[in-house]
Amino acid sequence: MSKHPITIIAIDGGAATGKSSTSCAIAKKLEFLHVDTGAHYRTVTFALNQAGISPKDLDAVTEGLETLNLGTSVKGQQAFLSINGHEPNDSEIRSPHVNGAVAYFAAIPSVRKFLFEYQRGQVKMAQKHGFKGLVMEGRDIGSVIFPDAPFRFYLHADAETRSLRRKKQGQEDAIQQRDAIDTSRKEAPLKCPEGAIVVDTSEHTLEQVIALLLQIIRNPQD
Ligand code: DC
Repeated sequence: MSKHPITIIAIDGGAATGKSSTSCAIAKKLEFLHVDTGAHYRTVTFALNQAGISPKDLDAVTEGLETLNLGTSVKGQQAFLSINGHEPNDSEIRSPHVNGAVAYFAAIPSVRKFLFEYQRGQVKMAQKHGFKGLVMEGRDIGSVIFPDAPFRFYLHADAETRSLRRKKQGQEDAIQQRDAIDTSRKEAPLKCPEGAIVVDTSEHTLEQVIALLLQIIRNPQD
């Protein structure tokens, strides 16, 4: 029996492995709240960058974090992070600059600590809004944020499929370089959580991946 009051589904994986499309679709099908923690790191990166803070200056990062007040707005089935009352839009948090800087900020322990309670608190947010479950995607959800989630998936895809996906999205993003930083950092590195179900998304269509995850979630004893 899970100690959480609602069902938690953790979906981890590297950049462009299909995490967001899959998580979004699973949340829609199950009518759960969807939380993209990559967007949290991007929003913090955007805010610190706006304050002129570099990830190389750890003292400035720590001081900068103290000035950031986090808020959440739930729209439809998605939760969005706002900072000091501003909810940055997609073009702000997915700009080439943020793509290039986010992995450096995400490797800083004080940044991860800053988001830890907020992310754990999304269970209460989901409950407050009447959702029976939460789908949270990221890099350390099944390993650090909710290691006790009843469903933990790790998505994987080969390098060619991933760069093709980003190109189709029209994004400039050095995903291999970002993954190298994410997997090699000391704090909460990107890794397959022990006991998680691994899915290679390069071998399947998005619809197949969604169907596979839904089947596992709906028939946990199989
Ligand atoms: O999912 P994404 O590509 O939007 O994530 C952006 C960056 O945020 C990624 O390079 C690593 C970081 N991240 C993290 O360290 N931990 C998470 N749970 C989610 C994202």
